[in-house]
Amino acid sequence: MTTPTITLTGVQPTGELHLGNYAGAIRPLAQLAAQPSRETYVFVADLHALNSRPDPDRLRDRTRKMAAALLACGLDHDRVHVYRQSRVPAIAQISALLANVTSKGTLNRAHAYKALVAANTAAGRDADHGVNMGLFTYPVLMAADILGMRAHEVPVGADQTQHLEIAVELARAFARAYHPGVLREPKAVVAQTGGVLPGLDGRKMSKSYGNTIPLFTAPAQQAKLIRRVITDSRRPQDPKDPDTCTLVALLDTFAEPAAAQEVRGRYRTGGIGYGDVKALLAEQLHMTLTPMRDRYQALLADSARLDAALQAGERRANQRATETLRLLSAAIGL
Ligand code: ADP
Ligand code: TRP
Repeated sequence: MTTPTITLTGVQPTGELHLGNYAGAIRPLAQLAAQPSRETYVFVADLHALNSRPDPDRLRDRTRKMAAALLACGLDHDRVHVYRQSRVPAIAQISALLANVTSKGTLNRAHAYKALVAANTAAGRDADHGVNMGLFTYPVLMAADILGMRAHEVPVGADQTQHLEIAVELARAFARAYHPGVLREPKAVVAQTGGVLPGLDGRKMSKSYGNTIPLFTAPAQQAKLIRRVITDSRRPQDPKDPDTCTLVALLDTFAEPAAAQEVRGRYRTGGIGYGDVKALLAEQLHMTLTPMRDRYQALLADSARLDAALQAGERRANQRATETLRLLSAAIGL
């Protein structure tokens, strides 16, 4: 039997998933995870979320919703292990051990921390104003997530590549200080930037722009949001460029290929108005998303089933992380 490729990624339990997150991150991950040669670990990074000190009830709620969403989006089969980071205590222990081979200078140079220092300095405040150690040591915990599971590859957005470089740096530092071959150096798999889905205003769909269509909101609400998508003033009979239209980008991503193709053709000949395209898009989204939305809602309504799915993932993640902790401890002399 060939050893499977271990794929791992984490998502923070922040905000509501939108169509862009699904198309750009979750769907590609589910496709990767479906390959028989892979074993996939996907977790909700609830410990990482703590540095912004979220309200406890809200954190609990968002963590469950994120876990249910991941499971509902096609990550619910036996080669995928979905878990809550906080339920795998060995990860935090590995993070504590890795801290001793992490130079403070590396963390001083980490983007998120540096950005805060720059903002504080610009505002004339103390450089470390508002910086807690959770934020400062975020990259160490992330390295523990990855190295603890001995992951081969880590699919992430381009904003996370520095964190992956730090994980590799810590694996090497550990190898130099103690024992080569205990920790595996992971590879980042960076999502192609070509696939950026536009939002209601035509800019990248993003929580930070407030231009999103939430993935699991009710179909009527999605239809209402789609009616707000900004288009130009061309009339139905005018020819239009399908390649610059947000509605067509959404159709390409979520509709049946034949339906999207037909709309593309009718744009060029001036045979369709934006109102009709919006109605078609709402209908196609409804069709595509309903099975997933139903699974999501069923999971949220049945806590025993959601807990059972998470506990299965957590058992497996605990086995793997505990094994790594044991190897590290032995190499260190604990
Ligand atoms: P947001 O911009 O809404 O805050 P995040 O930065 O949390 O989203 O992104 C989470 C994941 O979703 C990342 O992998 C990111 O690349 C992907 N993603 C976010 N927005 C889009 C988009 N508009 N198109 C494609 N992928 C996206
Ligand atoms: N830092 C990642 C983000 O903000 C989330 C994350 C935490 C993660 N630990 C990870 C991603 C390990 C990949 C691997 O998106």
